[in-house]
Amino acid sequence: MAHEVRAVVSEAKGSPVSVETISVPDPGPGEVLVAVQACGVCHTDLHYREGAINDEFPFLLGHEAAGVIESVGPDVTTHAPGDFVVLNWRAVCGTCRSCRRGQPWYCFDTHNATQAMTLGGSPLSPALGIGAFAEKTLVAAGQATKVDARARPEAAGLLGCGVMAGLGAAMITGEVGPGDSVAVFGCGGVGDAAIAGARLAGAATVIAVDLDAGKLDLATGFGATHTVDASAVDPVEAIRELTGGNGADVCIEAVGHPEVMTQAFYARDLAGTLVQVGVPAPDMRIDLPMIDFFGRGGRLKPSWYGDCLPSRDFPMLIDLYLQGRLDLDRFVSETIAFDDVEEAFARMQRGEVLRSVVVL
Ligand SMILES: NC(=O)c1ccc[n+]([C@@H]2O[C@H](COP(=O)([O-])OP(=O)(O)OC[C@H]3O[C@@H](n4cnc5c(N)ncnc54)[C@H](O)[C@@H]3O)[C@@H](O)[C@H]2O)c1
Ligand SMILES: [Zn+2]
Ligand SMILES: [Zn+2]
Repeated sequence: MAHEVRAVVSEAKGSPVSVETISVPDPGPGEVLVAVQACGVCHTDLHYREGAINDEFPFLLGHEAAGVIESVGPDVTTHAPGDFVVLNWRAVCGTCRSCRRGQPWYCFDTHNATQAMTLGGSPLSPALGIGAFAEKTLVAAGQATKVDARARPEAAGLLGCGVMAGLGAAMITGEVGPGDSVAVFGCGGVGDAAIAGARLAGAATVIAVDLDAGKLDLATGFGATHTVDASAVDPVEAIRELTGGNGADVCIEAVGHPEVMTQAFYARDLAGTLVQVGVPAPDMRIDLPMIDFFGRGGRLKPSWYGDCLPSRDFPMLIDLYLQGRLDLDRFVSETIAFDDVEEAFARMQRGEVLRSVVVL
């Protein structure tokens, strides 16, 4: 039996999203049906609406979500109705060449639901293989990670994308350790999560860099020990001054801009680590003297989804949240309804929010 539910759909490139009634099938083999409780609004949803990801309209948007398992496919033994889950876009296959060599966070063949959700009989393309601006959504069982049900859904769901990307950029990709100095460029939801992650990992100096004074204030709330207003001073010089003239052990680029990437490259200490978690536009280029790349040593690492492994990392991070050591609630700028997603996109573009979260 298919379920008729309300959902936020993007039907044509650049057009405003609309709330529609879609059809969601019962779960088949390997699938679970999730009653969505909360779903954050992410830049990637807007990128889909603008046709910047691909042309496979209509899209079912939403992917930073938490909810409760409603029913499971005939062969699914890992989940049961009533389980509280956070959705993820990295359900690892276990058999591709990356999984086989023990690096499942790079999995090249992640799982999504095989059956399509539909709008007026046409298949929907779910954002990041999830599609969670819907009262119910169908995902692969591995896309639903069980976590402690005492977590607030609107906070827990944010681990599903941007907040996990930032936490992981510091804690996993950047391998921040006790006593390290860390500089985070860009203090939106992703950068602030990197700041929180650096603190959790024991960094002694955490420098927040942004152009916006309000964002720098928020960054202090997440644990930045110093702030640098890059609209007023040269951030490379400022970071060197704050680190004994050396530069930071780990620099994290959380903007997605070549100029910021270059600043982060030079703000590193010798043999330091540069993590790129900001997503660039396809036409952006970086131009570095090869001798500087070689001569400064260290590591330059792109970070997709913070190199997380949801089954390993989500339950652990939710436990830290429940212990009061990771303030996920602080990322929730406002809670909204389905009808408000278009306005939330505008607020996001104006830089007024870390995350707007749709609550059902
Ligand atoms: N790698 C991943 O898996 C992943 C996942 C989610 C999001 N992202 C990307 O991370 C980036 C940040 O996402 P977000 O949601 O935090 O975005 P955001 O727009 O909320 O935050 C970006 C911040 O950068 C600041 N900024 C802009 N130009 C700057 C500059 N020149 N110097 C310093 N700061 C500057 C802005 O003021 C803003 O506070 C985006 O590119 C997003 O697409 C990556
Ligand atoms: Zn794999
Ligand atoms: Zn996202």
